[in-house]
Amino acid sequence: MVKANANYGRLQGNYLFSTIAKKVAAYTEAHPDAGIIRLGIGDVTQPLSPAVISALHSAVDDMADAKTFHGYAPDLGYEFLRSAIAEQDYRARGCEISDDEIFISDGAKSDSANIQEIFSPDAKVAVCDPVYPVYVDSNVMAGRSGEWIESEQRYSDFIYMPCTEANHFMPEFPKENPDLIYLCFPNNPTGMTITKERLQEWVDYANRIHAVILYDAAYEAYISEPDVPHSIYECEGARTCAIEIRSFSKNAGFTGVRLGFTVVPKDLKADGVALHGLWARRHGTKYNGAPYIIQKAGAAVYTPEGQKEIRQLVGYYMENARMIYEGLKDAGYTVYGGVNAPYIWLKTPDGMSSWDFFDHLLDSKHIVGTPGSGFGPHGEGFFRLTAFGTHENTREAIKRITEA
Ligand code: MLT
Repeated sequence: MVKANANYGRLQGNYLFSTIAKKVAAYTEAHPDAGIIRLGIGDVTQPLSPAVISALHSAVDDMADAKTFHGYAPDLGYEFLRSAIAEQDYRARGCEISDDEIFISDGAKSDSANIQEIFSPDAKVAVCDPVYPVYVDSNVMAGRSGEWIESEQRYSDFIYMPCTEANHFMPEFPKENPDLIYLCFPNNPTGMTITKERLQEWVDYANRIHAVILYDAAYEAYISEPDVPHSIYECEGARTCAIEIRSFSKNAGFTGVRLGFTVVPKDLKADGVALHGLWARRHGTKYNGAPYIIQKAGAAVYTPEGQKEIRQLVGYYMENARMIYEGLKDAGYTVYGGVNAPYIWLKTPDGMSSWDFFDHLLDSKHIVGTPGSGFGPHGEGFFRLTAFGTHENTREAIKRITEA
């Protein structure tokens, strides 16, 4: 008799954002006039920029003519996009990355879930706590988690790196050596970020213990302070220990369009095996390439107009981040993040649990956020709000939260 993949049986509940969406849908059905404001999932609200829209229209027209029609895209991405990324995101910042080290995909969520496939099934995984749940769940599905320990709200075989107020939400090197280390900066969910000096220490550590860092830089465009690295490849030695994952969702509003990329340097090896070849093979076998139309839209982001427009878009959301951060702080909340990231991480008032605060905000203020404990046990007592709403909704949400 055929058996289902038992690893899936170890997953806890539903995917966090699906659970929240279900709760909110049930509440909305029961209270259709509540006027709910959604600051939960980090989904954008502003339209695609004019340069992107114009590229989309023109790429659609290309598909209407046999002379400019495009069928399957190259597995690893069109050269026009890979070269724009390598040049502007990396070489312009002094990072030595070649065009063919960029792998175009349908987004950072899929890449961050799939990347574990090119590593051994017994690789020891280290994650921050709290953490973006995709890193954990994808490794549970792959059989690396061990058993779920209910009393500790953790899996037996993962290494958890607590990110707490006490360590300024900065993971520390674990006692036990990991093989795979997931880092995300600017961080989801805490909105905190890392200095170049500290990231260099992680790179040195990974090279020393022969681990690979899976570096999620989806929120890079939100960095506003100097001395915050935009890429792990700004650190010396990162080419031999790091894979970087990026997204077009948060900088250019592609959440509904889908585009991202992963950088795998050719120097990066796991026990002598070049990972670049494995990831290329995986793409070739399992993926037919991101659509031509979408890659053209992605290339528009790298034009001078595109760059100007996405800076405005990021500026729009960062104004929301400022409103949330300052509004809550003035009202006496303890708040973190929001300066180099579109997430604000706040301490729940009066020692409320994260889910109790979620219910309180939904029931009495009609606001949706994300309970910190949904990101891991050390997220308990915290709550995440996103800056991706409209100005009007964000202002209204802060007014509702802070009024007595
Ligand atoms: C989040 O809210 O954490 C993100 O939007 C999730 C994602 O980008 O997949």
